[in-house]
Amino acid sequence: MSQQLDLNDYKQRIADLYNRRSKNYDDGEWRLQICHRLIEYSQISPQQHILDIGTGTGNLAIASAKIVGAGGRVIGVDISPQMLDVARSKVKALSLSNVEFQLADAELLDYPANSFDRILCANTFPWIEDKQAALRTWYKFLNPGGLIAIHTPANTAYIGQVVLRSVLGRYGMKLEHSNRIGSIESCKQLFVNAGFEGIDIKTEQHGSYVSFDSVKTKWKELISFSFHSKSEELLSQLALIPLAEAKAKFEAELEALKTEQGIWDDLTTLYILGRKAEINKPV
Ligand SMILES: C[S@@+](CC[C@H](N)C(=O)[O-])C[C@H]1O[C@@H](n2cnc3c(N)ncnc32)[C@H](O)[C@@H]1O
Repeated sequence: MSQQLDLNDYKQRIADLYNRRSKNYDDGEWRLQICHRLIEYSQISPQQHILDIGTGTGNLAIASAKIVGAGGRVIGVDISPQMLDVARSKVKALSLSNVEFQLADAELLDYPANSFDRILCANTFPWIEDKQAALRTWYKFLNPGGLIAIHTPANTAYIGQVVLRSVLGRYGMKLEHSNRIGSIESCKQLFVNAGFEGIDIKTEQHGSYVSFDSVKTKWKELISFSFHSKSEELLSQLALIPLAEAKAKFEAELEALKTEQGIWDDLTTLYILGRKAEINKPV
């Protein structure tokens, strides 16, 4: 794969964001927990060939490589060169020879059909621009009987984003923050339309109480994050709204959510599993 990707503006913004975050991306345990859950749900076992979509600093790919062993193979793809640098340095330190990282857009991959036993994707699906088309492509890459396992936050997750979405809605703007997958039903339909069967969506309830101030001070970060939207229309609408007024509405909505313990910051997590039929069928 080439070391220079020709990305559209939306994807270049994502790559830049993760390039900046690469050095401290691995701080904290939460992402590792998600990787371990995906591995458990997707029943990774020795000899398998695995594709890790949006591999980032390679946590999921590396954990999988340790399980598939010398007879297996793992490929991790990402659009951020600096996230991949971190991943490669970890693989070097561990002397793993069955995992490879490729700088590539997960929506434009070109592997032969029936190449992988498992396709995994942690914390990345919200960024995928055309989810339906991507799922159809990834379906082809799976071996018959192969499994896809995708982790994604639910629409209710991250209180700051939920409240921002509500405030912007009052200005007539539909912010699909980080391009979430919508309802469980619409999510399931995406996978069915791509050809997957036996769709199993596991929901895990997580979350914690956070202080009003800790969410309030996220306003600037949240609003600038919204400018990562893929929609040009949304970007131009965002540029027109009175930001000071929107900020005051944001704080008022948060205030209304206050309890004695603080504000509940929902982190409901979805793990979506789907299988390619044993007998290959056209999609
Ligand atoms: C939140 S990180 C997740 C990293 C890793 N999967 C984890 O769970 O720790 C999202 C990653 O997806 C990558 N990404 C976003 N869109 C992508 C695309 N279209 N193709 C490949 N990688 C993409 C980003 O560069 C970033 O490294």
